[in-house]
Amino acid sequence: MKLIFEKSVPGRGQQIFPECDVAVTLPKVPMRQTAPRLPEISENEMGRHYTELAKRAHGLNDGFYPLGSCTMKHNPRINEQMAALPGFAKLHPLQPEWSLEGALEAIATLEQDLCEITGMDGFTLQPAAGAQGEFTGLLLIKAYHTHRKDDARTEILIPDSAHGTNPASATMAGYKTVEIKSDEKGMVDLEDLKAHLSEKTAGLMLTNPNTVGIFDDNIMEITRLVHEAGGLCYYDGANLNAVVGLVRPGDIGFDVVHLNLHKTFSCPHGGGGPGSGPCGCKKDLVPFLPGRHTGEEGFRREAESIGDMTGFYGNFLVYIKALTYILSLGKEGIPDIARNAVLNANYMMEKLKAYYPVAYDRTCMHEFVLSLEKIHKENHVSALDVAKALLDFGIHPPTMYFPLIVHEALMIEPTETESRETMDGVIDAFIQIYNEIIDNPQAVAASPVTTPVRRLDEVKAAREPVLRYKFGE
Ligand SMILES: Cc1ncc(COP(=O)(O)O)c(C=O)c1O
Repeated sequence: MKLIFEKSVPGRGQQIFPECDVAVTLPKVPMRQTAPRLPEISENEMGRHYTELAKRAHGLNDGFYPLGSCTMKHNPRINEQMAALPGFAKLHPLQPEWSLEGALEAIATLEQDLCEITGMDGFTLQPAAGAQGEFTGLLLIKAYHTHRKDDARTEILIPDSAHGTNPASATMAGYKTVEIKSDEKGMVDLEDLKAHLSEKTAGLMLTNPNTVGIFDDNIMEITRLVHEAGGLCYYDGANLNAVVGLVRPGDIGFDVVHLNLHKTFSCPHGGGGPGSGPCGCKKDLVPFLPGRHTGEEGFRREAESIGDMTGFYGNFLVYIKALTYILSLGKEGIPDIARNAVLNANYMMEKLKAYYPVAYDRTCMHEFVLSLEKIHKENHVSALDVAKALLDFGIHPPTMYFPLIVHEALMIEPTETESRETMDGVIDAFIQIYNEIIDNPQAVAASPVTTPVRRLDEVKAAREPVLRYKFGE
């Protein structure tokens, strides 16, 4: 497919209005000497160009999207309608606070709802993504220890199943990261945890259920041990969808939490973003919260705040979408998110495990991990090949090769918004691919055959990305 610049013909299109016949005197500002290099193309050709591009992208409206740990659930349209209300959509961040009362009330309501959902005492909505929420949380932990003059705490413990953003955030916050092993059940190895706890421990970062879809049976013991050593417990809430409304991180020993509004709270992400990664904490850490948030005396900035994480109020319209979602489900409806997410994942796991071995054969939470290690060794078909084969069925592949502790991993998260009929169709596709692996493995390794492009040079794309169009250079 040609780029829009390659379709451009000098002088074509764009001329909608007549020449301006009003004398305009521009202030003396530096003026550009040459016109910008914009594509010259007629309106209908431009419409077709972008429609063609849109058809090549796979979104939730195209089909099943089981990207593990990403919670690609349906985003109810009413969320968008509320966020599009002019009273919200047309606000300007520099408007005085007295003219923003409705918006501030929405922010305060969401903060309070998130406190109630997670068992925390305060929240900042500012962070613009999960990873920034993690960074914020670690700065809160740091501020807490520094304030107590407990400066020797330089280490953050992180299990080997963690998402890569966890060690990255800890390092950015100036901590040394210490890896904790998982045991054979996919949970934190308690002995390894005990061996690494010390007076240097600032905290532990944990995703629960973790990235293999397992809720850690020893969670109360884990948080107790960390507290006993003087550390704090950080809850990576990216997987909250599995327990929302049923388990509160604050009740199982966590001091700080981030949530991904663009996952659990049904806001679009990826190309449909932007995201939002609010960070909440227990009362001892509230004085360090960034940005403006609702405290006992109303909407204010904490005196000992770690400072702003983003400009102004953060991604405000995402808050409206998440708040709409929470209010439309209500206290009674929210636990059904988790119940149905877990039910759907177990349904798919049980149907698939006769064909593809599961990494941990036990009841899973909202997602499960298949390991194609044996299939790869015996049939020479990899997890990547199966992911590519799914494309020919119009299915977005699951997360591949993550978590790192499982070889040839495919991590599947159906979410609660998929119907049984859709899941059955996907299970059928997986079984057809399995039969092909046995009968004709070369065909699977050669897939996809129906997509506009087939196998890409992913290493070259990562190492030598072409990010700028080179105009005839
Ligand atoms: C377990 C976990 N933690 C953190 C993140 C980071 O979230 P974000 O992509 O919003 O920065 C993710 C994202 O997929 C995740 O799965």
